[in-house]
Amino acid sequence: MGGTYKLAVIPGDGIGPEVVDAALGVLEQIGKVYGHQFVTKTLLAGGCAIEATGNPLPPETVAACRASDAVLLGAVGGDQWDDLPGDKRPEKALLGLRGQLGLYANLRPALLYKELQEACPLKPEIIGEGLDLLVVRELTGGIYFGPKGRRTTEKMGEEAFDTEVYSEAEVERIARIAFTIARNRRRQVTSVDKANILESSRLWRAVVTRVAADYPEVKLNHLYVDNASMQLVRDPKQFDVILTTNMFGDILSDEASMITGSIGMLPSASLAHGNFGLYEPVHGSAPDLAGQDRANPIATILSVAMMLRYSFALPQEAAAIEQAVQQVLAKGYRTGDLMNPGKTLVGTAQMGKLISGYIQ
Ligand code: IPM
Ligand code: MG
Repeated sequence: MGGTYKLAVIPGDGIGPEVVDAALGVLEQIGKVYGHQFVTKTLLAGGCAIEATGNPLPPETVAACRASDAVLLGAVGGDQWDDLPGDKRPEKALLGLRGQLGLYANLRPALLYKELQEACPLKPEIIGEGLDLLVVRELTGGIYFGPKGRRTTEKMGEEAFDTEVYSEAEVERIARIAFTIARNRRRQVTSVDKANILESSRLWRAVVTRVAADYPEVKLNHLYVDNASMQLVRDPKQFDVILTTNMFGDILSDEASMITGSIGMLPSASLAHGNFGLYEPVHGSAPDLAGQDRANPIATILSVAMMLRYSFALPQEAAAIEQAVQQVLAKGYRTGDLMNPGKTLVGTAQMGKLISGYIQ
């Protein structure tokens, strides 16, 4: 017997609506094949919400997300809102959702499909058999959420500040997520910090080391973030789970995504306590591609797979999506970001339909 699941859908701005449409088509196919019902409710957030309501994150959107089992988000932002003050910008919607929904654990798997090896910018001898790592990014703390502001100084003019703050409890809960996941992978956690400089990183490192003692089967090492960013392109195969702060995870996950051929391939899950989560591609709203049916919907489609796995406990359905993606790539279909000679160029909608077609 299939189940009924309530899904809040936030298409957002730029290519967001197109990639979300493609992903919902795939979800509908899953519903048909496996007998589930996905009840969706479309909500405003980001630039489109600013235009419609003056607020990047209307309270009704947050309330409707809370009343759902999971949230699927496309992307927010665009040039036309770039000059707005920080708390009125579309990006505020994302941070507001993460904070207000308690989505503290951000999982960003970077997987290089063997079909896409030619799209990987690293030399074949560096990549070897492929790449499969997971960035576990703390998502509701650190410098993105710490005290910030501006003040006028006497001699130096205006001054601005942002503050990196981490508590023991915040570090411990994200560390436990990373170690728990690592147990079912290659049992290796690399914690990334800047403990040679930052006090918050020294606390981070101490807490992670303490938590590691509860997971003796998992190997822990620590890297400074500058070294980690270098190691990612020098020898990415050394990584299994990368556990890191909000800002370092933001940066390192973009870097890791490019190794997989295109940022258009990377899904993410942002999890709260329990099963609730928000699922979105790692890429942004790509205004230059918007409305042209050119964006790669695979990151969003794979985000739906993560949703099925983490929020709805439907691992078989999740695997069906992941296999369908692989089959379509194996057949040589590519969106523009992944295009190489000899492959077949398809648009956003067509890519979604092709993937749906392999779910039977
Ligand atoms: C991401 C994005 C966001 C972030 C922005 C758009 C607020 O870059 O999800 O990685 O910095 O977290
Ligand atoms: Mg980012």
